[in-house]
Amino acid sequence: MKISLTGIKPTGTLHIGNYFGAIKPALALSARYDARYFIADYHALNVMKDPSALRQSVLEVAAGWLAAGLDTKKVIFYRQSSIPEIFELTTILHAFTAKGLLNRAHAYKALVQANNEKGADPDAGINMGLFTYPVLMAADILMFDSDVVPVGRDQTQHIEMAQDIAQALNFNYRQELLKIPQAAVEEEVAVVPGLDGRKMSKSYGNTIPLFASEKELKKLIMRIVTNSQGVEEPKDTESSQIFALYKLFASADERRALAERYRAGGMGWGEAKEALFFVVNRELSPLRERYNALISNPDSLIATLEEGAEKARVIAGKTLARLRKACGI
Ligand code: ADP
Ligand code: TRP
Repeated sequence: MKISLTGIKPTGTLHIGNYFGAIKPALALSARYDARYFIADYHALNVMKDPSALRQSVLEVAAGWLAAGLDTKKVIFYRQSSIPEIFELTTILHAFTAKGLLNRAHAYKALVQANNEKGADPDAGINMGLFTYPVLMAADILMFDSDVVPVGRDQTQHIEMAQDIAQALNFNYRQELLKIPQAAVEEEVAVVPGLDGRKMSKSYGNTIPLFASEKELKKLIMRIVTNSQGVEEPKDTESSQIFALYKLFASADERRALAERYRAGGMGWGEAKEALFFVVNRELSPLRERYNALISNPDSLIATLEEGAEKARVIAGKTLARLRKACGI
């Protein structure tokens, strides 16, 4: 069975955009692949310097993925920081990474450009962790002989860099020491709209948190921005973010029925929001219950991640032994 590897950045509270755009598609991979999932906590350290916020984020993300259905009996789930071999591999990869390659990374270039536009020093506010981010990411991937790495479009350059670095190393030692990974970009994943109609994103403050309480969920849905059409007027499904969200949670029959009511007129936005709340709450309430149980027991969450780390370290130890030997270390 081929191997897939998913890296999860522990930044911020999960929202329903993350659920449909990242969590659900990544969990579906476990049916077809020998799937591994990890929380990239050392990647997060580059931008999160508050220890309790980082710790809390790791716990929330771990509880979130488990509540959404990640099954640790079938897949390996661990924290990056629990696998010291990854950091040794990063050091090895540094010796095969041209500095120019990292200079060309989109994320780094965007930060430099923003500094230049402000007339600041080009490297102001950029730490070495951000600069070498792609090398650590390459180590995450190459360590586990990953065949495919499901990522958003913004991450494809990082996968290409992992390929380049692995090829440079393999070429030097004239052996296939590292498997060349492929990016798997989900083309069909819908962009989930937020409360204001823009893409749901924590940077826009327009999210519906995945584990919001029933009361909060209702309040947020009631805040979705609509046009000023009256109750009697027929309504357009295409331009309605209530409908766009409804589609994600409803059955085909329910979808058709609501579309018909939109067309017929006689249904106000308040009633449409009630219908939306019903289907969202129906799907999310079991997740929310599991999440609340998991997050209230951090020791057990950490123990689950440690069990995963033990399995991951067996694989990592083998990869690292192979590489050290090849390098003459
Ligand atoms: P945010 O935009 O809230 O900062 P992240 O960048 O942390 O979210 O996204 C984590 C994952 O969730 C990525 O794979 C991203 O593609 C997915 N994602 C985030 N927001 C949405 C959305 N509104 N619709 C679909 N997928 C999304
Ligand atoms: N850089 C990825 C992101 O921003 C997270 C990540 C770190 C990752 N290491 C990885 C993703 C390895 C896939 C494989 O979302």
